Amino acid sequence: MRHVIVFIILVLFCPISSSAETNKLDDLSLLNAIKSRAEGDKVTAKPVYMTNPVSLLCRAPGPTDASKKVAADPHVQTWIQVFAENLSSASFKETDKPLPAGAIVIKEKHHSDKAAADGAGMPADAKLELFTVMLKREAGYNPDGGDWEYAVVNGDASRVLARGKIESCMECHRIKVKTDFLYRSYLGQAEVDKAMGR
Ligand code: HEC
Repeated sequence: MRHVIVFIILVLFCPISSSAETNKLDDLSLLNAIKSRAEGDKVTAKPVYMTNPVSLLCRAPGPTDASKKVAADPHVQTWIQVFAENLSSASFKETDKPLPAGAIVIKEKHHSDKAAADGAGMPADAKLELFTVMLKREAGYNPDGGDWEYAVVNGDASRVLARGKIESCMECHRIKVKTDFLYRSYLGQAEVDKAMGR
């Protein structure tokens, strides 16, 4: 009888634990996923200049910890590029559907001390300083947060600086609950640039 119970427990839990393993990346695999991002994974047509995202997009009532941090950040000249791995760029553009487990969204943050000259693009001296990453984990990992794991990785992708259900990240991203916690505000940028003759 005990064997039967053990067998039933194994059958019940094995598929769950194996799917959990499939979506959990250890630090090394996470760094490798970032290093192996390819041109074909890129969802931004070219580097996008970011004005202060908090004042424009983070509409939390009153100054939050996250907004204070960004306001205090001297790195205001920021360009981003975004990559989406383990899914097609077409499905990244379908903002009405949640991304599948295993999807990895990587945002590169480039910084330059030079002010952005309109239309000039990202300055040649801009340095890739940081990656912020969202990893779609197995169902139940982060039930109130779209099952996203957040991570911060240094600019040469050699060190994971933080990862997990990072509250300061979720503070802004939960505003986007209706679009699977993703902003994707940069997707129409190429069309805007074209219309503006940039
Ligand atoms: C102050 C608000 C704010 C905070 C805090 C924040 N984000 Fe974001 N995030 C944004 C905005 C706005 C975008 C859209 C692109 C942009 O403006 O850079 C974005 C885009 C992203 C993207 C690209 C996918 C998307 O949503 O379009 C990733 C990945 C990301 N953030 C990860 C993180 C991580 C990891 C953290 C925590 C370390 C974090 N973010 C904290 C506002 C925030």
